[in-house]
Amino acid sequence: MNAIKAVVFDLYGTLYDVHSVRTLCDRIYRGQGELVSKMWRQKQLEYTWMRTLMDQYKDFEAATLDALRYTCGSLGLALNADIETQLCNEYLRLNPFPDVPAALLQLRAAGLKTAILSNGSRHSVRTVVGNSGLQGSFDYLISVDEIKLFKPHPKVYQLAIDIMKLDKSEILFVSSNSWDATGAKYFGYPVCWINRGGTVFDELGVSPDIVTSDVGMLAARFSQVEQ
Ligand code: 2OP
Repeated sequence: MNAIKAVVFDLYGTLYDVHSVRTLCDRIYRGQGELVSKMWRQKQLEYTWMRTLMDQYKDFEAATLDALRYTCGSLGLALNADIETQLCNEYLRLNPFPDVPAALLQLRAAGLKTAILSNGSRHSVRTVVGNSGLQGSFDYLISVDEIKLFKPHPKVYQLAIDIMKLDKSEILFVSSNSWDATGAKYFGYPVCWINRGGTVFDELGVSPDIVTSDVGMLAARFSQVEQ
């Protein structure tokens, strides 16, 4: 922990609750909000991974829209341009998890740089962070738009090093998505997995260095190191 100079976060699911969209989904598709939100997120991720494998980059907002269309098609739910706009805009207004704002302050007070490294487009990342009022809590907002590949491709993890001018060993990579924590670990970062859902870590051959239930618990560790 003493070598760590910066904490680089995943955005969706780690700092911001992707299932904040459930409420609007439920208002539009009564009783199906949770199902829509879960299938939508899963498909959105699959589309980013497939697009990277096929070398067919379209940004995260496009993946989000395509995944929404697939989800509604597969569940037999009506979708028109107005609903698409409403639901996709909701993805730009995600709520930060309650532990996040104070944890970011605490990390910065402990002298660490903070950043986001996300599969989100430049526009998505800036808008989600701006809408939550947390823009002052980050030193860097890094989007995969820079290289048009999605995590867990190793070149994405390299981006943070190139932009922040730090060594791998000086960056703690933090994600609640175990596939993302796995990619970061294989790349060579020290990794913290935020196990928000009380789930099991992926069986892909590596384990995180730290596991906590939320970002607040992680920040508390750094504050203890400082004292
Ligand atoms: C991210 O923020 C999609 O959760 C993933 O990069």
